[in-house]
Amino acid sequence: MKMGASSWPSETELGEVRKKVAEMSGRSAEEVRVVVSPYRICPLGAHIDHQGGTVSAMTINKGILLGFIPSGNSEVWLESGQFHGVVRFRVDEVQYPRHAIRKNDNSHAIDSFQVHEECNWGTYARGALYALQIRGNNVTQGIIGFICGSTGFDSSGLSSSAAVGVAYLLALETANNLNVTPTENIELDRIIENEYLGLRNGILDQSAILLSSYGCLTCMNCKTKEHKRIHPPKSHEIEESTGKKAYKILLAFSGLKYALPNNPGYNRRVAECMEAAQTLLDASGKGDLEPLLCNVEVEAYRAHKYKLEPNLARRAEHYFSENMRVAKGLQAWACGNIGEFGKLITASGLSSIQNYECGCEPLIQLYDILLEIPGVFGARFSGAGFRGCCLAFVEANSCMMIVIELSSF
Ligand code: GLA
Repeated sequence: MKMGASSWPSETELGEVRKKVAEMSGRSAEEVRVVVSPYRICPLGAHIDHQGGTVSAMTINKGILLGFIPSGNSEVWLESGQFHGVVRFRVDEVQYPRHAIRKNDNSHAIDSFQVHEECNWGTYARGALYALQIRGNNVTQGIIGFICGSTGFDSSGLSSSAAVGVAYLLALETANNLNVTPTENIELDRIIENEYLGLRNGILDQSAILLSSYGCLTCMNCKTKEHKRIHPPKSHEIEESTGKKAYKILLAFSGLKYALPNNPGYNRRVAECMEAAQTLLDASGKGDLEPLLCNVEVEAYRAHKYKLEPNLARRAEHYFSENMRVAKGLQAWACGNIGEFGKLITASGLSSIQNYECGCEPLIQLYDILLEIPGVFGARFSGAGFRGCCLAFVEANSCMMIVIELSSF
């Protein structure tokens, strides 16, 4: 995908969304507001946000558009460009967490991605209302809205779920004249995912969406919540490190839209990281701290890692090595060293496969294929790697054609 002076959303796309909401509401298209909520990539810092690690992210020029108009009463009425049916509820209904509804099922807490894809696509809108309600916001005004994602990008591992959650939050906040900062919205989206849906993920996705700036790499410390944006590399710097003047970001889709049934599950990995953290904290006399790997000093990890079960040792190794790759990657990016940045992305992908043991066979194969292709500086799978796409930083002018045939997933 070209990250050029772009193109998304086009006037036509915005016009179509406005027209649809105007038809639904009987109001004029000019009155329709549109939330633009982009998808994201995470070149470095995979699977460490939930442990308070430091991550890097960029938004891309594709994503979610949510056209809306205040409904004039408490009614919410939503339609979708991707999903059938109509979602209707009232903002004065009290919302309850979804995973509490499915109680006694904690080990299989809902995978938010699947929730969105099952016919239940209104879940994120209800989750946004839940988050606003539970934080004491006065939500009295509903919305009439039409939501749609960029064509061909659904289930792509580019965090469409956070983009949807953020879009509903912003629409409900605007309709209700609520003044909410990006930092507060990061927390509200965390409530949707962690508390409403029961997915124990970190804050990478929504931080990328709410904080990124065009062409910059956003760096987020998920423990302290401090972030910074590092300017795009200059072409002479890219040339020094790669011999080429520019780079592009390529997304290679696996065609795999649903997580395979035998994947390890996101929450299980999070629990393993916490178990590793608890063992290491106990061993270093800090057992009263929250069992997150960010609370374990690197020295304590080195001194006590032999006490970990082999699988937990691999999870911890991923965390500590990935944090290191992020630190090195931020330096490389800041001086435009895309060659080094790419190598770190590839190493991050390998650690996700070998240490974190996530991803799935089709995405691992795609990763291997990308690394064989001339002009690829680095690649890894996007998101949790259970489905969707691989991302690669590539030479801008190399002509690449990837034809990959995947049988029916
Ligand atoms: C998903 C989660 C994020 C993050 C990534 C992996 O996108 O939602 O919180 O853990 O996987 O880096």
